[in-house]
Amino acid sequence: MPKSRATRIAPSILAADFANLGHAVRDVSAAGADLIHVDVMDGHFVPPITIGPAVVKAVRPFSTQPFDVHLMVTRPDDHLDAFVEAGADIVTVHAEVCPHLERTLRRIRSLGAQAGVSLNPHTPEDVLRYVLDAVDLVLIMSVNPGFGGQKFIPSALPKIRAIRELLDKAGREDVAVEVDGGVNLQTAPEIIAAGADILVAGTAVFGQADWRAAVSGLRA
Ligand code: DX5
Ligand code: ZN
Repeated sequence: MPKSRATRIAPSILAADFANLGHAVRDVSAAGADLIHVDVMDGHFVPPITIGPAVVKAVRPFSTQPFDVHLMVTRPDDHLDAFVEAGADIVTVHAEVCPHLERTLRRIRSLGAQAGVSLNPHTPEDVLRYVLDAVDLVLIMSVNPGFGGQKFIPSALPKIRAIRELLDKAGREDVAVEVDGGVNLQTAPEIIAAGADILVAGTAVFGQADWRAAVSGLRA
C-alpha cells in the first residue's frame, strides 16, 4: 500500500457564509484549498435543503480549483446534467440511492466529470466491488450526512483501510479515497494514516479565523 501521494484538502462550503459564498470560494482557494467541496442536500435523503446547480454556476468563476459536488439527494440521476453544466468536475452519488450504480457512474463520466461513490457510515464497502472500473473517487462518510460540525465516527478508520486495499488490489491505485465528516486537527492524522487522499473539512476550515493556517494544518 504505497502512500506516496500528497494529501489534498477540500473545504466544504456548507460551513461558509452563504451571503458571501463567491468570496468564500475565492479566498479559500487562495488559502490553499485543493478542491471546493459542495454539499447538495434535498431535504429527503438528508433532512436539510442546501443548494442546487444555480448556486454552483454562480460561484464557479471564483475559483480555478476542481469543484467536488457531493449529492446527498434521493434521485441523483435527475440532476447529473445540471451539475456538470454548472461546473462540477467531480460528481459523487450515494450508493444507498442508486439501484443502477454502474449506469449512474458511467453517465457521470460520459458528461465529462469524474464519478464518485459515497458510502454512509453503515454501508459496507462491498457495494464497490463490482463497480471498480467505473469509479474515480470513493467518498467515505465519517458522520451520518446532513449536518456540519458532527463528531467523527471511529469505525470509518478500518473502512478507509479496507477500501484502499480493495482499490489497490484491483489495480485502481489512481482512485482517490476521500473522507467527509468530523475532520479536524485531532482526527486528520489517523485518517491520513489509514489511507485517505482527500480530506473534506467544513468547520475545521471555515470555522477558523485563519483559513490558510487551517488548510495547511490539516495537510500536515
Ligand atoms: C455532511 C457533509 C459534510 C460536512 C462536513 O453531511 O457532507 O461535507 O460539511 O462538515 P464538518 O467538516 O464540519 O464535519
Ligand atoms: Zn460532503
